[in-house]
Amino acid sequence: MALKLSVIGTGYLGATHAACMASLGFEVIGFDTESSKVDLLSKGKVPFYEPDLEELLAEQIKAKRLTFTNKVEDLSDADVHFICVGTPQVKNGNAADLTYVNSALESIAKHVKPGGLVVGKSTVPVGTATKLRKRLLELNPKADLAWNPEFLREGFAVEDTLRPNRLVIGVVTDSAENILKEVYAINLKENTPWVRADLPTAELVKVAANSFLATKISFINAMAEVCEASGGDVTVLAKAIGYDPRIGSRFLQAGIGFGGGCLPKDIRAFMARAEELGASQAVEFLKEIDAINLRARQRIIELVRKDLSDDLVGKKVAVLGAAFKPDSDDVRDSPALDISAQIQAAGANVTVHDPKAISNAQKRFPGLTFAEDINSTLKDAEIVLHLTEWKIYREIDPAQIKKLVKSAIMIDGRNALDRDLWRAAGWKFRALGRTDSE
Ligand code: UGA
Repeated sequence: MALKLSVIGTGYLGATHAACMASLGFEVIGFDTESSKVDLLSKGKVPFYEPDLEELLAEQIKAKRLTFTNKVEDLSDADVHFICVGTPQVKNGNAADLTYVNSALESIAKHVKPGGLVVGKSTVPVGTATKLRKRLLELNPKADLAWNPEFLREGFAVEDTLRPNRLVIGVVTDSAENILKEVYAINLKENTPWVRADLPTAELVKVAANSFLATKISFINAMAEVCEASGGDVTVLAKAIGYDPRIGSRFLQAGIGFGGGCLPKDIRAFMARAEELGASQAVEFLKEIDAINLRARQRIIELVRKDLSDDLVGKKVAVLGAAFKPDSDDVRDSPALDISAQIQAAGANVTVHDPKAISNAQKRFPGLTFAEDINSTLKDAEIVLHLTEWKIYREIDPAQIKKLVKSAIMIDGRNALDRDLWRAAGWKFRALGRTDSE
């Protein structure tokens, strides 16, 4: 008999995990305390934008392999319970807020069958899983707990879940590992690397991976600062060092830096946890990674100021992109919106375009103006900022849109546009970390 799975928390991670596991043939029940979310998902609708997810979810609901509920007792049939709730940054500090993880464990504990397994997927500070396992065994001595961190990227969530580049399994017992081998049998057949670890190592793998990625991005953004000071070009530098396979070319895209619901809060939570453990010196560098990242936002505002004679008051600024990255409608800690809001606060009239994220952006920044189409965003603009590298922006014909703007100045915050093309069309073109020689 195939295992029955439950997924607790149906946000980004949970909804994707539930739909993907169902598509592998498991019977899956998703649980969320928010009934509006449960209602929407039950109708096959996803409350956020993620390529391919809605189709997959609707298909699985139709096939009757996937259901959703807001009653925790409905999960008692499942053999494995995945905890996929959020661990946001606390309001008054750097640490992760574990309220949702703790309450997920408390509410599921007594519904776990004898021999059943609770599997944490949320990103948590090291030490959390051991504490949760102890608590679970107090409440239900016949249950077990494992930790199986998730590495999915927004925009590629379905692909990353179905075909992960590795599976990391933090377990105490062999039986927990065996259950997870059954869950991930298809991946094992496809030779996906399987890393068995203890609970703390499994938790650490996730924060270490995100810290490394954040470090790589801030490293190239630091090089961009040096290029600006010395007349170099960071895009050429990144290309050249990326050919060294020990360095690799990915995550070396210099620009306005990282945002989103993961990298920024994960490096901060890591610093907070390391301090509690008396190991703060070991991750002290992450403070600098965070600072370099936030500095990129100021550096682009400086470029805007330079081109507008240091006077933003009343200037019409057009912004292309609101999401923290392309192929996502997520605006959590979006560098694009932070920059837009700061320019607006300095007196400019900022109009923001995004193909998917406008409604989320509007909720967070009601003071900004949003436009549904690119042309009306650009109309009469005195400067244009490219802040999220959606494909549609790379397809813009600079000669065409030059007719719409008041002054043809493009600031590419993502180093993703073709500078020669824009310059040939008569635009002043500026970017972070590139010699400004026109
Ligand atoms: C990140 C990790 O990449 C995932 O592996 C991880 O599972 C996830 O966090 C998580 O913890 O849940 P995600 O937040 O979707 O995934 O986004 P990334 O693709 O990592 O991009 C993060 C930010 O870095 C974006 O704002 C992006 O624009 C920026 N970035 C990325 C750069 O500025 N330069 C680059 O070269 C690459």
